[in-house]
Amino acid sequence: MQTLIELLAGAIWFIFPAYVANSIPVDVSKLKLLEKYGKPIDGGRTLNGRRILGDGKTWRGLFSGIIAGTLFGGLQAMVAPSLNGGSQYLPELTLTLAFMLATGALLGDMTASFIKRRINLRPGQPAPLMDQLDFVAGALFFAWIWTSVSQGTTANALENMIGYPRLAVIIIMTPFVHLLGNFIAWAWKLKKNPW
Ligand code: CTP
Ligand code: MG
Repeated sequence: MQTLIELLAGAIWFIFPAYVANSIPVDVSKLKLLEKYGKPIDGGRTLNGRRILGDGKTWRGLFSGIIAGTLFGGLQAMVAPSLNGGSQYLPELTLTLAFMLATGALLGDMTASFIKRRINLRPGQPAPLMDQLDFVAGALFFAWIWTSVSQGTTANALENMIGYPRLAVIIIMTPFVHLLGNFIAWAWKLKKNPW
């Protein structure tokens, strides 16, 4: 039987590379050193008069997020054996899975920006729930694809990857964690808005 603590730990453990991938771009956007890589991914282009993604989605953010999330997940994979201590309460992470989680997180975030621009929401304007869950949805979707590819079938891929209880914990927990994180980033003047 999994204890509640093990369930929570397993959920946070698995989604952590996506959290890292989603937070790093905000910090990196403040680095003078990387300023010249801060060009918007959409190159300023518009679709029906509205920006495709907007100035909030930069190459610098995309690459720094993917690299940071992948490296952090790789580190987790390295220390997992000693943390698990013989039991298997932490879901398995590999460097490739971390890369998929991080890449999915950034692409999920970009997808949400694309949708926000289509419905005329400016960067920084809130889209409740979508702003909080876009990156998690992208990360889980990419991780699910990779799990399916490596096991050769989509059957039970989600169960084999993390299982439904942890999935539920991630979805319920993330909006709160995200709001708290953004509030802290805003208080530290890293972000313009507390959401
Ligand atoms: N960021 C970035 N590149 C990315 C993702 C994020 O540079 N691919 C940085 C930007 O400085 C952005 C900040 O992280 O302003 C916060 O991201 P987010 O809250 O998702 O962006 P918004 O500015 O609110 O824009 P949008 O409405 O398009 O999500
Ligand atoms: Mg966003």
